[in-house]
Amino acid sequence: MPIPQTNDMPSLFPLEHPLVSCHLTTLRDKTTSSSDFRATVHRLSMLLAFAATRDLLMTDRSIETPIQPMVGKMLLNRIGVVPILRAGIAMVDAMLDMIPTAEIWHLGLYRDEETAKPVRYYDKLPPGEPVEIAFVLDPMLATGGSAILACEVLQEWGVKRIKMLSIISAPEGIERLQRQLPEIEIHTCAIDECLNDRKFIVPGLGDAGDRIFNTTGR
Ligand code: PRP
Repeated sequence: MPIPQTNDMPSLFPLEHPLVSCHLTTLRDKTTSSSDFRATVHRLSMLLAFAATRDLLMTDRSIETPIQPMVGKMLLNRIGVVPILRAGIAMVDAMLDMIPTAEIWHLGLYRDEETAKPVRYYDKLPPGEPVEIAFVLDPMLATGGSAILACEVLQEWGVKRIKMLSIISAPEGIERLQRQLPEIEIHTCAIDECLNDRKFIVPGLGDAGDRIFNTTGR
């Protein structure tokens, strides 16, 4: 099936919208509870999903309304949603609300606290035909190491088109992902100032995984 080409399109898509700005403030606020944090990640993921799917190709689908037959539309390509464990899990339901027919493939990566390099600990991609378009989900793009590794794993599987959906991103991670894998589209709700010396996004929102799963260990 044809895959939309992006060669002459920019690869970075910041999502600017009043709802995004307000929900982001809730997310960044350190007093936000874990349950509100999860709900806010869901809301932002819906908005991000809406923006990142605007160029999906469609094909005709014949139906009958209660009044008469008509030709409607359905998505053409086989879509994969790929959350990076753990934090990406919180974005899955929003994506599935938008694309109920999508396949979900999990990639387990964590960032080593000493080196800030990603460590791959789980994936179960099938040996058969890859999905045609993959949406990689992770609330945070910091150094970019996890996103790059996830995209490389998907490219090894044979995925032709990949869109990275992150809620907040650091300029350093965006620059690195664009340099190493310029074909990847990056959709993000915010581009923050920088990384600190521990490679955390500034001003950021802390550790998304811990805040989502209430494992901050207070
Ligand atoms: C965080 C985040 C990304 C990664 C971003 O995950 O959710 O996966 O770090 O950092 P990077 O761009 O520098 O690679 P973390 O390692 O904390 O794992 P978790 O989701 O299990 O909490």
